Amino acid sequence: MDARPIGVFDSGVGGLTVLHECLVTMPNEDFVYLGDHARLPYGPRPVAEIRRFAHEIGGYLETCGVKLIVVACNSATSAALPGLQEVLQVPVVGVITPEAAAAVRTTRNRRIGLLATEATVAAGRYAQLVRTLDASVRFTAVACPRLVPLIEAGEQTVDAVVEYAEPLKQAGCDTVILGCTHYPLIRPVLQRVFGRDVTLVFSAEETAREVADTLARKGWENERTRIGEYRFLTTGDPETFRSRGERFLQLPLGEVRRVAVGDLERAAA
Ligand code: DGL
Repeated sequence: MDARPIGVFDSGVGGLTVLHECLVTMPNEDFVYLGDHARLPYGPRPVAEIRRFAHEIGGYLETCGVKLIVVACNSATSAALPGLQEVLQVPVVGVITPEAAAAVRTTRNRRIGLLATEATVAAGRYAQLVRTLDASVRFTAVACPRLVPLIEAGEQTVDAVVEYAEPLKQAGCDTVILGCTHYPLIRPVLQRVFGRDVTLVFSAEETAREVADTLARKGWENERTRIGEYRFLTTGDPETFRSRGERFLQLPLGEVRRVAVGDLERAAA
């Protein structure tokens, strides 16, 4: 039994797709979610800068007394997961590996597509993992720089999705990885553009399962009968976060507190 909360972070509201699965899978656990809105989007930034942000947030969450950290951001997972696992005292779970494995299991024609941020595409982790699992797969990756800003602003994404989907349709992909935690928030748009024959893969559920398994292995689960709580931190404006977050999470957000970027910088692991 371990009553400490679980830390979850993303550049913005995308990680709420992962938090939601965690809340469903582990209703007895407490969560603290950090959205780094002041520095969003991460996608166009150099990998080294995203890695630095991830180490700051990981260190900060550790000072909040979390028992495990979920990197609910594909860009930060690509840039920093092994490094975070090395330096942090608590276990760190990321989001990329389960999606690559699910995509290889799902494809029937061995043509897999990836939609992700520029940083995630440039880091090449998905391509490596897919290749390791099945070297015969034809893998096509498309960077989608417009999507995260449009989703965060609550603006229309159809035109951008049509443009980004085109190369994957041309390549005949029957399976498309949503390689950014923001993208499941616009799943209806994506599924309509790709059509019913294309399977969209994302890992929020598997990530939540990995977190639950890790806690069980360590004997760190909270009491079964407890109803867990969750709270939110943002480097941006708490009220903007609250309205966006409630729209996407479809749950009341409760406490949302601002954290200064300087506090994160000082906590860097
Ligand atoms: N949700 C983040 C990801 O999964 C978005 C990154 C960004 O801010 O561009 O990559």
